[in-house]
Amino acid sequence: MAAKKTGGLAGITAGSTKLCTVGKEGAGLTYCGYDIYDLADNATFEEVAWLLLRGELPTQAELDGYIEKIKANRGLPDALKTVLEMIPADAHPMDVMRTGVSFLGNIEPEGDFSNQLDTADRLFACLPSIMAYWHRFHSDGERIDTETGDSSLAGHLLTMITGETPSEMHRKSLDTTLTLYAEHEFNASTFTARVITASLSDMHSAITGAIGSLRGPLHGGANEAAMQLIQKFDSADAATAGIHEMLANKDLIMGFGHRVYTTSDPRNSVNKRMSKALAEEAGDTVLFPVSEAIETVMWEQKKLFANADFYAATVYHFLGVPTYLFTPIFVCSRVTGWTAHVMEQRADNRLIRPAADYTGPSLKAWVPIGERG
Ligand code: COA
Repeated sequence: MAAKKTGGLAGITAGSTKLCTVGKEGAGLTYCGYDIYDLADNATFEEVAWLLLRGELPTQAELDGYIEKIKANRGLPDALKTVLEMIPADAHPMDVMRTGVSFLGNIEPEGDFSNQLDTADRLFACLPSIMAYWHRFHSDGERIDTETGDSSLAGHLLTMITGETPSEMHRKSLDTTLTLYAEHEFNASTFTARVITASLSDMHSAITGAIGSLRGPLHGGANEAAMQLIQKFDSADAATAGIHEMLANKDLIMGFGHRVYTTSDPRNSVNKRMSKALAEEAGDTVLFPVSEAIETVMWEQKKLFANADFYAATVYHFLGVPTYLFTPIFVCSRVTGWTAHVMEQRADNRLIRPAADYTGPSLKAWVPIGERG
């Protein structure tokens, strides 16, 4: 395996959380004490969202009430729709998400934080609407109704994006990826949200910043970049040769490697299983074999493993989601983890302000502007 570099706060404990364990000896990946595999197999994404935001699994009555609350919060104010229509068609949808949340912070400000759970629920409910409204307006000129009546966020999302009611298999596949993406301890975007929160800023600012962080290809943007990589190759053989060449050129292979995990990403096996099933359903003979070939070369050559983003890419592709919406869908899921961290940070807050090693010049004498060479 390639040697780990220093810097980037690697291995530094920067705070504490009750929300999640990542790669902890004997625990693996857990949300509020529940194993990710149990949640992926058994929970709906709405149950996971409740768990992260309220700390316990919901009772049936609580879940029913929550689903109704989320459904009632899916609508977009007219002013926000106008803003979304004004954002150019060639903008990146992550920038649309960022602007959408920021604008919402103007027209529905959080106020004194006493309703922070309602603000979190509102963001959870309306982020899919922001994404799909902009997408459909600019891709086919439709001003869609963002209140589909579908009880699951996964079904609601797919209906808005594709204009069709999804099959149970598609609904469950998306729902499971949303669960896998929901929370991941002090990843870059969550840490960004906590840093913003720690200055006692509002939830919309924290989530706007988190979206900006997630956008980058070293973080959430990797699922989109992985799809572009997979689609470069028309066969497993071409992928094998192509990845060897890219590694020889020292290119980064998107969807591989991780800051915390060293031998595998626990979310990958679930995503890979779904990608394979969806490939079979779609009669795909290229994308899945290409993905496996890339995975094989990466392990053989670099001992690097596919992370959660790699097979999530083909899952979303087979579900009919345009590539540029892959990372925005990640936002629709991770907003649960982000807002849970915002509330956790507020509950025991101290300004986050680390120190830096100074590497600049030693003290210099002031030079008046006319005497500078
Ligand atoms: N492709 C090729 N080489 C990779 C690689 C990848 N995906 N991931 C890591 N490496 C190499 C690095 O270039 C580095 O090599 P070097 O020491 O010769 O420069 C070495 O492995 C060590 O990696 P490091 O830079 O220490 O990893 P990190 O902890 O700083 O970064 C990631 C972690 C996730 C940012 C990194 O693995 C990456 O860029 N992956 C691709 C983007 C991605 O999938 N992001 C989603 C993460 S969930």
